[in-house]
Amino acid sequence: MNNKFYITTPLYYVNAAPHIGHSYTCIAADCLSRYYRNLGHKVHFLTGTDEHGQKIQRAAEAQGLEPKVFADKAVSVFKGLWETLNISYDDFIRTTESRHEKAVQKVLEILYKKGELYEHVYQGWYCTPCETFWSESQIQAGNCPDCKRPVEKIEEKNYFFKLSKYQDWLIDHIKSHQDFIFPPSRREEVLRFLELNKLSDLCISRPKERLSWGIPLPFSPNHVTYVWFDALINYISAVGSFDKNDKYQSEWWPADLHLIGKDILRQHAVYWPIMLKALDIQPPKTIFAHGWWMIDSSKMSKSRGNVVNPIEMVDKFGVDVYRYFLLRDVPFGMDGNFSEDAIIKRQNGDLANDLGNLVYRTLTMIEKYFQGEITNVEINLKNKQAKEIEEKINALDSMIKTNMGEKDYNFSLALEPIWELINLANKYIEDTKPWNLAKENKTGELKEFIAVLVKVIRKTADAIYPFMPFTSEAIKQQVGKDNISKGKPLFPRIE
Ligand code: MSP
Repeated sequence: MNNKFYITTPLYYVNAAPHIGHSYTCIAADCLSRYYRNLGHKVHFLTGTDEHGQKIQRAAEAQGLEPKVFADKAVSVFKGLWETLNISYDDFIRTTESRHEKAVQKVLEILYKKGELYEHVYQGWYCTPCETFWSESQIQAGNCPDCKRPVEKIEEKNYFFKLSKYQDWLIDHIKSHQDFIFPPSRREEVLRFLELNKLSDLCISRPKERLSWGIPLPFSPNHVTYVWFDALINYISAVGSFDKNDKYQSEWWPADLHLIGKDILRQHAVYWPIMLKALDIQPPKTIFAHGWWMIDSSKMSKSRGNVVNPIEMVDKFGVDVYRYFLLRDVPFGMDGNFSEDAIIKRQNGDLANDLGNLVYRTLTMIEKYFQGEITNVEINLKNKQAKEIEEKINALDSMIKTNMGEKDYNFSLALEPIWELINLANKYIEDTKPWNLAKENKTGELKEFIAVLVKVIRKTADAIYPFMPFTSEAIKQQVGKDNISKGKPLFPRIE
């Protein structure tokens, strides 16, 4: 398919309620999806939930529920949040759906037939919260080196996937595809890891007696599939299927962009491309790993108990202020500190003072001087500021594209030229002193001056649409083509 843009988020675990970190990836994916749709691309935006594995089985048990019933409840919480945040996903996949389970079993069958999987007795340590095996030398004083929680000793027969066999291929692929892993610091991190360590094969099964909540292996009914191996397959199970000759068919694949947090880079940039390679399927074009939202320099996560509920933030500040803050405050890819003070600063500054004021002042003038109507005005102003504004309007789309259309997806930088335009217009109002034009009866000049502002506002409404869709619509309502309706200021100031 020409001009397609297939974008995905991670599938979120259903064992805990979504927090700001989860909402961040979906908001970023939504912003890009809206941006690309506006450019005329055929966008497919996939998100969903990761529902198998020990973590979820235990969380369900703790509530005395069947895992599927437990997951159903969680899914409605996630979907409710995405609706509140105005997330325009095209498809929501759950790993418990049959379209997914069938694809996972098919993948296992193909790899088994091809000799990419083998049986082996495993002895070692296991971290349940991370669903990860560790060797004796990796654990730290009986704890997981990643999450620092206690590990459990296990010995069991499992199936392994020949990850190590493809190590050189992966190194080559990363080196010859500059766009494969973003940002460049993460690409370097993966390359360094691959060049300094020998990959071990990946254990892709769990014995049923230890864990029953998973997709059964088609060739060994006493095992279920390892949750990561299961979940990654969603990116292809959602958009295609295998034919009789085990060839994968899809109009969307390869994915154009897997958006993930840097916590799950290894699974996406090492396991996943190798799984695809073994299946003879093209790797995704780009994997972008963004940074973490932190609270007092510690990652926001359920296990650290420092999570902030996005709904609370939306109730306090509104959806678009929340979206704007997350996309504006931190360059995509970097970590950021979350605080309500920082949101308030953005709300009062960029939103109330700059954007809100421009719209409100302009509408007030149209009401006061032209009875709410200002149409078909030809602008002939020759002053420097009007010209500068005109040039900025004409250059805006390409300036935004430099940051949104390239692989660094720098939302924060993309927003900057929009605010430069807004502030040029605000400065123009202050310097022109329109009340004097009115006093001196320079009606023609006043009208043209206001028409410039209206042009800025309409351009701004279009440009902010991917970031703040509700606000964009609200401004378009206020500054409609034929009539003006001055409502309340767009953003209240918070004292
Ligand atoms: N289920 C796996 C992913 C499987 S993908 C095939 C998983 N789920 S998760 O619920 O833990 O979500 C992880 C993702 O949530 C991160 O990769 C990131 O996108 C987002 N975030 C979770 N905490 C975050 C922060 N503190 N900051 C920013 N994003 C974070 O891992």
